[in-house]
Amino acid sequence: MTSQVSSRTFRPQPLTPDAIRSGLKTERLGQMLHIYDKIGSTNTAAHSLAERGAPEGTVVLANTQTRGRGRMGRRWISPPDVNLYFSIILRPGGDPRRVGLWTLAAANAVAQAVEQTVNLPTRLKWPNDLLIHHKKVAGLLLESVVQKGRIRFLVLGIGVNVNLLYNALPKTLRASVSSLRQESGHWVDRVQLLQRILETLEIQYRSFQAEPAGTVLKAYIARSETLGRSVRVQDQDHKWTGIAEGLTPEGALILVRSDRREVVVRFDDVVHVRPSDAAGD
Ligand code: BTN
Repeated sequence: MTSQVSSRTFRPQPLTPDAIRSGLKTERLGQMLHIYDKIGSTNTAAHSLAERGAPEGTVVLANTQTRGRGRMGRRWISPPDVNLYFSIILRPGGDPRRVGLWTLAAANAVAQAVEQTVNLPTRLKWPNDLLIHHKKVAGLLLESVVQKGRIRFLVLGIGVNVNLLYNALPKTLRASVSSLRQESGHWVDRVQLLQRILETLEIQYRSFQAEPAGTVLKAYIARSETLGRSVRVQDQDHKWTGIAEGLTPEGALILVRSDRREVVVRFDDVVHVRPSDAAGD
């Protein structure tokens, strides 16, 4: 479903440190800010800063990216002035097997913030795509650096299609990708949305450090658009179709094929399919 968008096509809204810090109710996330008008990728920049000892909660934000990166080596389209592109440095320490759970916890927090902002149900396609009306409006890219069996740092990259309009999207993406403005029919304040995402993430990040995995998984499952449906997954050598029946304690997806054999999907992309499309796989 796509709403009629308001006639106001563009409101300049510079992403300045003052605007972002004013009223930001976090202790750490976003208190240290690096803002660029144009950058290659905020994840790459945040990674270099983290290597040089930047503190936890440091945010790298850009108005546009020339080499925005998505999952599986894909490009993240990053036009100026309309969307949010930012990366957060996190230093949770602990077991690298928890990285998958961090991704799910972060996706859930961002979805909660988006849902509160636009007042539309925001669902999750495994592992970390945010969907409104079944269309992707945001994606997360969590990169980890592990040393001596412990997480040294995480870079959590977040891209949200905020005020992007359809005609700015390549035609091939229009059936599956959208923006908050396109789906809600309203222009969305990028600064307020950023603040809300940082605040929600900080609360959930703190509680996740103290919580068992089960609590994170439960919250994620409640928002999942993937679980219970027919999905297709492909790695370099195989292609499977099955029902997404659950998550492992590490957050991997459990697929049950028609011959009842289980496949555990850890990294690959899944495609939601209608049962009729699955026939023959
Ligand atoms: C995906 O859905 O494939 C993940 C997309 C993540 C995009 C964001 S935009 C900010 C940060 N910098 C990047 O280069 N990528 C992430």
